[in-house]
Formats: sequence, structure tokens, C-alpha cells
Amino acid sequence: MDNVKIPSHVGIIMDGNGRWAEAKGKNRSYGHKFGAKNVDRIVSHAFKSGVKSLTLYAFSAENWARPKAEVDELMRLLKEYFKKFIKKVVSSDVRLRVIGGRDELSADLIKVITDGEEKSKDNKTNNLNIALNYGGRQEIARVVNNLIKEGKEITDQTILSGLDTADSGEVDLIIRTGGELRLSNFLLYQGAYSELYFTDVLWPDFDEIELDKALESFSNRKRRFGKV
Ligand code: IPE
Ligand code: IPE
Ligand code: MG
Repeated sequence: MDNVKIPSHVGIIMDGNGRWAEAKGKNRSYGHKFGAKNVDRIVSHAFKSGVKSLTLYAFSAENWARPKAEVDELMRLLKEYFKKFIKKVVSSDVRLRVIGGRDELSADLIKVITDGEEKSKDNKTNNLNIALNYGGRQEIARVVNNLIKEGKEITDQTILSGLDTADSGEVDLIIRTGGELRLSNFLLYQGAYSELYFTDVLWPDFDEIELDKALESFSNRKRRFGKV
């Protein structure tokens, strides 16, 4: 794409796996499998297009309320995903971070995650943040608590620099697939001035062309930040 303004930090709410599967007469886990497969091509295309940092909403702090079988399958897929992509991430100069609460995750998943974060910590070209057991409100509360513990003043700047995505900066564009028009607790603080892009396309069907459409839409926005 020529002559387009590329957002530096993009967040994606990867929604619609369940409905995608149900429309094919399959169970929801089938949709999650294809949803997980879709991550790789979108990550590659986003970075190729000039996006510097990508934050993907993989599992919300509220998603634990789903049936146990679905949660177990999602955790299994996440572990498989991390194992598979760590090598690729490391060799393509992408820094991986998993954001969200760790306490609820299994020990073996935490091990895979910390391994990926450790191996990619010196990578500089791109940031890939996977939001897992993530909630924007929980993140803000955690940051404020840390600031209090450290005896630091609570200001907009100190909160911003304590956020899980601090190195990626504020989020310029939030994309939500799957047709719902809400944020579902995603990047609440760093998204204060995000441009929002909603599409009915379900996550497993969201391909390179759909991402281009979102980037083009962003390119046409007038970001005023309160000014005239
Ligand atoms: C998004 O797809 C994946 C997660 C929330 C983990 P959903 O599972 O929410 O799919 P729908 O919205 O029910 O179609
Ligand atoms: C948001 O999708 C979370 C992820 C995509 C990981 P949900 O399907 O959980 O959101 P709600 O429940 O429709 O708001
Ligand atoms: Mg959903």
C-alpha cells in the first residue's frame, strides 16, 4: 500500500472464532484452532506493512467463566502457539511479551512464556504483545498498586510508564473482528485516544486484505487529540 500513514502500535481483539465454527456445524474449539492458525499470517503482514508493535487479545481475564473444556482447549492452543512461534519470533527480531495476570496460569504455560520472553528480550525491530488473562481495569489497578508500593506519585505519566505495553507506546489503532462494538476490557488506559475499527469479519477469516482495509481506514482518520 502506497501513501498510507501506518499506525505504530495496533491492538487486535481477535473475536468470532466460536461463531465461525458454529456456522460450519463444528464445535467452538474447532474455531479456536483456526483462530490460532490465523495469528501468524496477520502478525507477518502487520510487521511487513510497517506496524512497529502489535498487541493481540488472546484470552481475557473474564474468559475463565467459559465452560472448562473450552478454557482447557484455549490454554492448550496457547501453549502450542508459543512453542511453535518462539523460534520464529526470536529469529525475526521480534520482542515477545505476554501481558496480563500470571497467577492463574499453569506452571508449564508460564515456563514456555518466560522462555520466549527471555530469548527475545534483546530483539528491537518489532514488539509482539500477547494479552493472556488480560483485563485493562486489572492492569491499571496493578500499576497503581506498584506505584504506591514504590512510594511514587500517581500521575498520568507514571501510570503510562508502568503499563504492560509501555515500550510499545499508546495504541494508535484498535481493530475488533467479529461484529461486536465494544472494547471488552482491552487496553483501556493506553487506548484513550485510539482510533477504533470494527468489522463483521470473523477472526479466522480476517486475512491480509482485511488488515489492509483497517490500515487504510486509519490512514484516512483525522486525529485531533482535542485540538481543532
Ligand atoms: C474469540 O472468539 C476468542 C476468545 C475470546 C478466546 P470467541 O470465542 O469469543 O468467538 P465468538 O465471539 O463466540 O464467536
Ligand atoms: C474479547 O472477546 C476477548 C478476546 C477476543 C480474547 P469476548 O468474546 O470474550 O468478548 P465479549 O464477551 O463478547 O465482550
Ligand atoms: Mg466472542
